[in-house]
This record gives sequence, structure tokens and C-alpha cells, in this order.
Amino acid sequence: MEDVLLDVKELKTHFKTEKGVVKAVDGISFQVRRGEILGIVGESGCGKSITSQSILRLVGYKRNELVSGQVLFEGEDLLTKKEKNMLAIRGSKIGLIAQDPMTSLNPVYTVGNQIAEVPMIHEKASKKSAWQTAIAMLKKVGIPSAEDRADQYPHQFSGGMRQRGVIGMALAGNPSLLIADEPTTALDVTIQAQVLDLMLKLRDETNAGIIMITHDLGVVAEICDKVAVMYAGKIVEQAPVEELFANPKHPYTKGLLKSLPKLGDKERLQPVEGQPPNLNDLHEGCRFADRCPFVFDKCHTEHPPLFSTDSNHRTACYLYDEEAE
Ligand SMILES: Nc1ncnc2c1ncn2[C@@H]1O[C@H](COP(=O)(O)OP(=O)(O)OP(=O)(O)O)[C@@H](O)[C@H]1O
Ligand SMILES: [Mg+2]
Repeated sequence: MEDVLLDVKELKTHFKTEKGVVKAVDGISFQVRRGEILGIVGESGCGKSITSQSILRLVGYKRNELVSGQVLFEGEDLLTKKEKNMLAIRGSKIGLIAQDPMTSLNPVYTVGNQIAEVPMIHEKASKKSAWQTAIAMLKKVGIPSAEDRADQYPHQFSGGMRQRGVIGMALAGNPSLLIADEPTTALDVTIQAQVLDLMLKLRDETNAGIIMITHDLGVVAEICDKVAVMYAGKIVEQAPVEELFANPKHPYTKGLLKSLPKLGDKERLQPVEGQPPNLNDLHEGCRFADRCPFVFDKCHTEHPPLFSTDSNHRTACYLYDEEAE
């Protein structure tokens, strides 16, 4: 369809290591439409960052990094593009707010120069107008005294300011797709709210699509239109955001939602018990089986496909396999 901006099909990213093949991302499919915000949630190590890096082809170059499937962006498969074409896409049409802001900032250039570089490279902007853009972006992300700050180096910024600098850099490219990998985790609550507002503004003003990677379900509830829940390299549930919160299906999603502290609730967090499986030593069967309170025989055969329980609600769990009944 016309308004599908990103169409990821059966994406797999495996790493060959001495201890076997790590199946970090293992056959996931999802779409992002223009103007839509997709949340990707799941606990640490489930493959969220590797998914974003695979889309941008930041992994897949080394001999031990095996990436397959399709990443159709505006109809073209990024996985088959030449590196020089990817260079033109990264940082302009697709902006990335990386999980660790220091990986995106070069310590030897001022923050202002790094942001100004974006319009200079991608839009052939003059030095002067690029510098104006840099200052405007720093203001936009809430950096006080932006004119002075633009002349400073990353190490002179606090952690939260660096993160905002990286966000400014991503916005300077005027992206049609923004991938934000835990953009608010390092920030205090007020700044967090400002950053989320910025994302919504970007979406409203430019109709960009956004992938919001987070393990904060509060963030998801606040800004996402739909959610994909990842577990051990797989998407285990996908639904519009209200539907997921009102009507979670997968036992893992139910566990995650239960672990959300309710307002005024004095009880402690109730996380899903147990640990995710080792990604280089996966058993046959559902990857969540070891931790699942509803496990039954079939769960040990193979990892379940996504079953539709509603027109746009899908769950990888044999409890929802209607044909089996
Ligand atoms: N180069 C690599 N070689 C082997 N395994 C790797 C490599 N890079 C990542 N992994 C593994 O891939 C899995 C997914 O990592 P990823 O960074 O995507 O997790 P994540 O969901 O972003 O976690 P977090 O919430 O902690 O950021 C992890 O188990 C990680 O150890
Ligand atoms: Mg990550």
C-alpha cells in the first residue's frame, strides 16, 4: 500500500560465534506507515537494537554477521543497496537515535558542527545556513543557551544533553523514518516528556513514521499507535496500542503488563519469572515455554507462528491456534 513506509519481511540477523550461532533477530516482520508510531518492547537482549541496526545496515558487514530477509523502505530493499546509497539514506531519510549517544557523537568535533554537517552533506546547505539549522535544532530539543552550547564538544555536555544533541542531529536530516532506540532512558522525567513531545511534533508536522524502541510500557501507552512485543529474537504479539493494553493475549505480554506498577499500588513489581533462553542454544518449541504458566505439549514441538485473533491483533501462542481445536 502507498502509505507503507517501511515493510520488514522475515528479517533475520544471526551472529556466528565460537559458542554457536546467536539468533539475535530470527524472522520478524512488521510494517510502519507514514505518520505512524510503532513501539517495539521487550526485555534486555531480545533483539531490539539489533533490529534497528539491521534496518540501517549497521550490522551485516562482517563475515560472522548474517542478515537476511527484506527491509523495504519506500518500496526499495535496503538489504541489497550499495553502501554508498546507504550513506545517503542514513542520517537523512532515516534518522537513528542510537541507544548509546556517544556512539553517534564524534568527540573531536563540536556538537554544533556535527549537527550542521547533516544539512551540508545531505542538502548541500551553505555553512552559514547549516549552522543556523544546528542552533535551531539544539533549541528545539531544549538545550539552553544553544548558541554557546553549539560551540562545545560532546564531553562538555551532560549525558542528557548529549542524548538531546543526538536527537537534534537526527531531526536535522528531516527524516521520513525515525528510529529511536531507548531515547529517553537516560533522561530525567521532565526532559523525557519533552523528548516524547518532540517525537509527536515531528510526526504531526512531517508525517514521518517512527519506531520507538523501549522497555517502558508507559512510553508506549503515551505515544505509540501500535506495538510489537519481542521475545528472544521473535515478535510474539502485535496489536494496536489500546487493544494490546486492554486485551493482551500472549502470556509474556500479560506478564509484562502485570509488572507495570499501578498508580497508588504499594505492591512490588511483579516481573515475569525466569530468564530468557540462550540465543545460541535454543531448544525446539516455543521460546517462552520455560517461563510460561500455560505451557502444554504442543509448545515443545516448534516455535508457534503468529495467529490472528482479530483483524490486526496477532499472537505467537498455541493457545490461539483455532484450527487445533
Ligand atoms: N556481535 C554480536 N555477536 C554475538 N551476539 C551479539 C552481537 N551483538 C549482539 N548480540 C546479542 O544479540 C542479542 C540482542 O541484542 P540487542 O542489543 O538487540 O538487545 P536489546 O533488545 O536491544 O537489549 P537492551 O534492552 O539491553 O538494549 C543479545 O543477546 C546480544 O548479546
Ligand atoms: Mg538495545
